[in-house]
Amino acid sequence: MMSNFDGLTIALSKGRILDETLPLFDRAGIRPLEDMNKSRKLIFQTSSPAVRFLLLRASDVPTYVAHGAADVGISGKDVLMEYDGDVYELLDLNIAKCRLMTAGVKGAVLPKRRLRIATKYAKVAKDYFASRGEQVDIIKLYGSMELAPLVGLGDLIVDVVDTGNTLRANGLEPLEEICQVSSRLIANPVSHKRKLAQLEPILEILHDAVKKQHLGL
Ligand code: ATP
Ligand code: PRP
Repeated sequence: MMSNFDGLTIALSKGRILDETLPLFDRAGIRPLEDMNKSRKLIFQTSSPAVRFLLLRASDVPTYVAHGAADVGISGKDVLMEYDGDVYELLDLNIAKCRLMTAGVKGAVLPKRRLRIATKYAKVAKDYFASRGEQVDIIKLYGSMELAPLVGLGDLIVDVVDTGNTLRANGLEPLEEICQVSSRLIANPVSHKRKLAQLEPILEILHDAVKKQHLGL
């Protein structure tokens, strides 16, 4: 069923991004009319009739935005680096902060042959090792990367690390930092032009909310 909604459609993802994003939108006076963590729905009306939220898998947010199924969305920089399509990055929301890192079994000596990297970040990993002049074989996974090297699936992993607890709990150690990660507000290029008047006031409030949160206000 095609939607004839002409307001602003915003793509969010369950979990930490949703938990940290809703307070930012709240400051802009935009609140979902139902508890998005409890409902089985995927489209949510908000307190602003001109704004609705979509609830997606984190890695699907850029796809919805690039194709114009959502006008804007919130996505981790890790997901954006892995994504090939065309989206504008409008604002660093400074939330869901972590680091993309390589990690391996604690104390393990790496083999001299071409390394095998188990990760869901195939593109990031390939580019990172290529930038160091190393050709690697990528083993594509969709989650629980920490398990792979423990059972001989790959020599290293590339994953996001925050506290390091997950690595430690599995006898792994962080090795090299690839980059810092935080969530970004992204936009479809056409929506950005066509709905700028609707988008701008929200952007301004989000920008302000991020600044205040950063200052602990
Ligand atoms: P998908 O369901 O599409 O596989 P996911 O399970 O990675 O996605 P989340 O765990 O909600 O989804 O992560 C969303 C984003 O939050 C990630 O893309 C990353 O930017 C950030 N993130 C992931 N893990 C952490 C963490 N431990 N601490 C802080 N931020 C994190
Ligand atoms: C993420 C990520 C790591 C972990 C890192 O998993 O995939 O496993 O966080 O965080 P830490 O360094 O603080 O331990 P998450 O908790 O999102 O689980 P999921 O990937 O299975 O959703």
